[in-house]
Amino acid sequence: MEEVLREEEEESLEQYRKRVSAALNPNDAGEDEDGKRYSTADKTNDTNGSLLLMAEAVMIMSKDNILASKLGHQGRVRMHWVLQASAATCIFVGFLIIVVNKNINNKNHFQSWHAIIGLVFLIFVGITSSGGVITLFAFRLKHYVKPAKMKLLHNLVGIVTFAIGVVTEILGIYTLWFPKRASLSAQVICTVFVVLGGIFALESAVKSAYVRFKNLRQGI
Ligand code: HEM
Repeated sequence: MEEVLREEEEESLEQYRKRVSAALNPNDAGEDEDGKRYSTADKTNDTNGSLLLMAEAVMIMSKDNILASKLGHQGRVRMHWVLQASAATCIFVGFLIIVVNKNINNKNHFQSWHAIIGLVFLIFVGITSSGGVITLFAFRLKHYVKPAKMKLLHNLVGIVTFAIGVVTEILGIYTLWFPKRASLSAQVICTVFVVLGGIFALESAVKSAYVRFKNLRQGI
């Protein structure tokens, strides 16, 4: 009796997971063994490691960062752009590998929300990184754009970019690829960790954007 109940419980959990995945991957539907429709996972997993790199690159700018406690502002900026450039390179290479792999296997592109928002993330990474280069040379370009304005703009767009990366990561956890390899509780735990990590990483960036905005308004 107990075994039957456990089997029923497992089955309804499995169906719940498939429903969540189907909702998040609307165009990537297939059929399972019972003929019910479900979504196949998109394996655009390139955000995983590079988002961690990006989080550290954002946090390195904070005065409370232990790893950069001995660095001055210039040292932090250098670490920031080296880490961000590495993260951006990983994301672009990962994206290329996925596109080529899908082409080889004759699979459709951008069929899940994870893949679509992942593409938006990739575009934002390109825009933010280009803005970062302008921010790096802001003083030399001061005749064209006020350095304080450029820093605030890069800071704000950087926050949005990182947040999109976090959303992409969470959507990745809810593709069918993930629950095929882990339990529902692992899915929930990973989501909580990614959300908390995202908030923690952005805390100092949001504070410095606020200070930059206040200083600009007061003409400092
Ligand atoms: C997607 C990639 C990037 C993101 C998400 C990003 C995000 C940010 C954020 C949030 C800050 C403000 C941090 C704070 O003050 O607490 C910042 C500062 C800065 N970033 Fe980036 N960044 C990226 C790429 C780059 C690149 C590629 C460069 C240069 C080549 C760069 C150059 C800078 C500079 C120079 C500052 C500091 C400005 C200052 O206060 O002097 N960033 N970035």
